[in-house]
Amino acid sequence: MDNNKFVEVKNLRKVYDNGHEAIKNVSFSVKKGDLVCLLGPSGCGKTTILNILAGLLNPTEGDIIFNGKSVVKVAPKDRHIGYVFQNYALYPHMTVLQNVMFPLIVGANKKPKTEAKKIATKYMELTQITELADQKPGNLSGGQQQRVAIARALVQEPQILLMDEPLSNLDARLRLKIREEIRSLVKSVGITTLFVTHDQEEALSIGDKIILFNDGIIQQDDLGQNFYLEPNNYFVANFVGNPVIDNFKVTKTANELKSSQFTIDLADLEQSRFKREIPDGEYILSVRPENIVPDPDGLFGTTVDDIELIGRERILKFTFDNEQVRSLINLETPIKRGDQIKLKMRFNRVFLFTPEGERVY
Ligand SMILES: Nc1ncnc2c1ncn2[C@@H]1O[C@H](COP(=O)(O)OP(=O)(O)O)[C@@H](O)[C@H]1O
Ligand SMILES: [Mg+2]
Repeated sequence: MDNNKFVEVKNLRKVYDNGHEAIKNVSFSVKKGDLVCLLGPSGCGKTTILNILAGLLNPTEGDIIFNGKSVVKVAPKDRHIGYVFQNYALYPHMTVLQNVMFPLIVGANKKPKTEAKKIATKYMELTQITELADQKPGNLSGGQQQRVAIARALVQEPQILLMDEPLSNLDARLRLKIREEIRSLVKSVGITTLFVTHDQEEALSIGDKIILFNDGIIQQDDLGQNFYLEPNNYFVANFVGNPVIDNFKVTKTANELKSSQFTIDLADLEQSRFKREIPDGEYILSVRPENIVPDPDGLFGTTVDDIELIGRERILKFTFDNEQVRSLINLETPIKRGDQIKLKMRFNRVFLFTPEGERVY
């Protein structure tokens, strides 16, 4: 048994009946006890993967391995999986207690009622819904319904917990609170968890690692900070980061990167960061807002178009290279709308991509 590969997905492919290829040769593994986020825009294949893991959908090709054994031919009920669906799927006519007990009083592995109630009570305490035991789901808030769905997914003490955008129905403030609770709950239970979200901030905050998808393909499978520091490609750089990334069209000649308004000497870039030799031609230079900042010794001049306050920082907006560019400054920096400023680009923090999105620096 390899605890680093408690869940293994190998060369997974899914073509739906209408011919749509939703998953294209996806492979990844999840360590025992880890909380892994499957991240990506709507339609990239996240739910399809969870449904295949749970056995609700058959893969077209590939293998699913739990704890060293292929489960592709194993029935859903025998996969020891808890699944929290995006819409929670609670039984409206049952009380909270009956909902949570339900998996324990049906099917082949059913338990005597008193024991079922005891186990349900334990998980209702863990998810802090004990006092709601006699309520019907219709009377509960979104956050409370969500806890009921989690308690119900946990009562069979599954090996693996799948959660499909479990916070998407909650308001912003509650989302922050509940995501912390979910992390501490699954860590205290020690359950291996795959958590689906389209929200990069959510993924970064709770994932032990993140697997970012686009269009049925893994773009990066990595620790959170690496999506920011070392994005694999243009898609990753633009999907993960705070709050936007600015992209400039540049032409590379022998020793320069030239845009319509600025020129960068290639010697100023960190030579060890080049991924390969790059031929002369067109590229995209990307800079995160915190890496193009006002500095009296900056190389590039511009005028401040506007300033927007976001919490303890401000977004500085200016036109640069015919683009609306954003930079981040703190509250104390004495800069106002209309000021002439000089900009410094942190060259060891910029990225260079081919027009196809391959990262070359
Ligand atoms: N039953 C289906 N038949 C055909 N296409 C589907 C079906 N279910 C999902 N899809 C398509 O497969 C892609 C992935 O869907 P899904 O896994 O639900 O994405 P996500 O959960 O990331 O939003 C989407 O383009 C979606 O329209
Ligand atoms: Mg989905």
